[in-house]
Amino acid sequence: MKGLILSGGSGRRLRPLTHTSAKQLVPIANVPILHYVVADLVGVGITDIGIVVGDTGNEVRASVGDGSRWGASVTYIDQEAPLGLAHAVKVAEGFLGDEPFAMYLGDNMFEDSLDEVVEGFDGSVAARLLLAHVDDPSSFGVAEMASDGSIAALFEKPAEPPSDLALVGVYLFGPRIHEAVRAIEPSARGELEITDAIQWLLDSGETVEHRVLDGWWIDTGKKDPLLACNRLVLDRLGGDGVVVDDGAEIVDSTLVGPVVVAAGARILHSTVGPYVSVGGDCSIERSTVEHSVLMQGASVTGLDHLTASVLGREAEVSGVPGESVRVSLLLGDHSVVDVGGSGGCTDG
Ligand code: G1P
Repeated sequence: MKGLILSGGSGRRLRPLTHTSAKQLVPIANVPILHYVVADLVGVGITDIGIVVGDTGNEVRASVGDGSRWGASVTYIDQEAPLGLAHAVKVAEGFLGDEPFAMYLGDNMFEDSLDEVVEGFDGSVAARLLLAHVDDPSSFGVAEMASDGSIAALFEKPAEPPSDLALVGVYLFGPRIHEAVRAIEPSARGELEITDAIQWLLDSGETVEHRVLDGWWIDTGKKDPLLACNRLVLDRLGGDGVVVDDGAEIVDSTLVGPVVVAAGARILHSTVGPYVSVGGDCSIERSTVEHSVLMQGASVTGLDHLTASVLGREAEVSGVPGESVRVSLLLGDHSVVDVGGSGGCTDG
């Protein structure tokens, strides 16, 4: 079985971060999401992996490379525009050939291994889907179930969902999916929807199996689910949950686990944690930070306190030492925010 990871898309719901960076490369516990995805596929024996990339392709290539670090062989497939998940399958047809494959959305993360999901799938049935009970089904593809427990129909982001069972970001397909993606038309949002392609399989009398997920699953494409995912992954750390890489500097500070601090980071006179990922070369001074992801080189100075935030690379946030204000931010790379707000107006 081959693997197909989708790592294009515009990342609209994580702007401004995604103006300059791929949403699939945002770090969770200081590791890019996409690296967990590759490792998951390799973990179930899928090593021949195609990655569909768009505008951020060069960054994705630089981060994942040829896959040899996971024992995988990675082929990059260019998608000229983010025209939908089924469009990604279309552009990957040459790579996939007639082999069964596991399609994995590159911004999705799972608690459990995919062992039970892929077990026994050889492509002789057209598809096997993964479903999960969710609170907000209208944000997803949703399955309508028949009385015999099989899938009766699928709807993409329905205003009135027929169930709370959402389509999760891993799909197994046999070769008939290629006919389906050729047969469908773009949806109202202008995309070729994989949900419509699978509906086409159902309408053509093909068998579409499903499994219902037990463990957690997160589509990390928005700030709050991303931070929730960071919390869940940090919760897996053993011991006191404090991991400080060699080459990080901690001075007169309290780290409250779970927290990870990458090499080159400096934490001075601060309280950091719980649930904070501090990326490489970040700096936190005279501040309190909790429930946040700080990407490479971000800095927080004199701020009490920063919570539920994602700071892009080299973003700078400052506050007024001694003044307490609770701030939650989603900042793109190189942003500068002065929460104290003097803004240079005092000298005019
Ligand atoms: C896509 C699919 C949707 C699925 C979701 C899972 O949505 O279209 O059916 O439930 O991924 O993450 P998108 O993230 O493109 O809005």
